[in-house]
Amino acid sequence: MKYHIVTYGCQMNLHESEKIAGILKEAGYSESAPAEEADIIVFNTCCIRENAENHAFGNIGALKKLKREKRDLIIAVGGCMVQEAGKAEVLMKKFPFIDILFGTHNLPELKHLIELKRQKKKHLVSLAEAREGAEDNVTPVRTSYPNAWVNIMYGCNNFCSYCIVPYVRGREISRDPEDILQEVKALVAEGYKEITLLGQNVDSYRFGDWDFPRLLDEVASVPGNFRVRFMTSHPKDFSEALVAVMKRHQKICKHLHLPVQAGNDRILKLMNRRYTREKYLEDLALLRREIPDCEVTTDLIVAFPTETEAEFEETLSLVEEADLASAFTFIYSPRTGTKAAEMEGRIPEDVAKDRITRLIALVNRKTREKSAKYVGKTVEILCEDFDEKKGMYLGRDEYGRMGYFKSDEDPIGEFVNLKITEANGISLYGERVF
Ligand code: 5AD
Ligand code: SF4
Repeated sequence: MKYHIVTYGCQMNLHESEKIAGILKEAGYSESAPAEEADIIVFNTCCIRENAENHAFGNIGALKKLKREKRDLIIAVGGCMVQEAGKAEVLMKKFPFIDILFGTHNLPELKHLIELKRQKKKHLVSLAEAREGAEDNVTPVRTSYPNAWVNIMYGCNNFCSYCIVPYVRGREISRDPEDILQEVKALVAEGYKEITLLGQNVDSYRFGDWDFPRLLDEVASVPGNFRVRFMTSHPKDFSEALVAVMKRHQKICKHLHLPVQAGNDRILKLMNRRYTREKYLEDLALLRREIPDCEVTTDLIVAFPTETEAEFEETLSLVEEADLASAFTFIYSPRTGTKAAEMEGRIPEDVAKDRITRLIALVNRKTREKSAKYVGKTVEILCEDFDEKKGMYLGRDEYGRMGYFKSDEDPIGEFVNLKITEANGISLYGERVF
């Protein structure tokens, strides 16, 4: 029997899909296949912005015909969207052919739900308010070699006013550091070359007297030839202790993803971010004093309710002033149940589109300028894949920049030195040097 998983959203969800694949394997589905050949199709949804939801709605709807032709096909929908208040009912009504709905806290039950469904029970819905514990007790089917994602915590307590995550993912819960370290050691022994520690807000990691800098320190102290990344950090928790650990270990990539969201203090306050523009800039100054070549990337939201043109321009100037290497940029999307969704002063769509276009142009320029500086230099990348279209291998350097190169042998999983000959947008092209 075969399975097909469709994933929306972030790294957290991609890793959750690896866990779903692990559960499907235990339930007897031996391999992944295209949707038309699958015996079970699982949607792992995201609800962080409206377009992620619309995308999932479109794709689920498109399965109606396949389900009619293949009566035994099981369709399961899980992830953040299912956990949203009232959404499970909407999904069932709109798509009565869905067999199983499972919330983000119900992963451990998925195998049982599938077994029940196979016994021809009608629709099965499993939703819970909160996670039972920090362990899922599943062996994921990893799909991102040579990188391995490792959850260190779940949930979020921050309640940024625009964000639905704390409502669908629940309160923060951290994993036992011993379990995390054991998982990391096993992954390194298996040959993984990059460990990415995952959490909605890794800096909030707490387990007894363990905090995130201590955990990061221990993970980076595991012997072996691998590098360490982590995401996502919150500027309000930025600490000298974190910088000290990053500086101490060569294994930790000199890249910090530090979402700032906006460059204006009034908007930051409305967003409930609990730091100011000045504090963000001071923190980056400290980071660069200690680790001068550390690259910083960010997330930015434009057109938050009541944002003026002048306030938006402060986001533009922050990208310059903070010397950000790249950014994920988003138009504010109202999410039912959040504080911001109740705010007056929605920004018209044409204004929002104009702002994001200008922001993207600036971010792209910054990225291009930084990339151009690499030409002629040699960088070490971890080869992670082969790009069929380009006919080239690719990988990232520790700063997060993508490098492409040709090779006769398959170097996936190897650290490779590239002499950069060309820079194009965020991508670098080079020749392998030994
Ligand atoms: N609208 C737009 N962007 C959002 N993000 C989170 N919630 C929203 C929303 N309602 C963005 C933030 C966050 C990233 C993961 O998604 O920038 O850092
Ligand atoms: Fe959402 Fe803020 Fe939590 Fe990030 S820190 S998940 S933006 S509430």
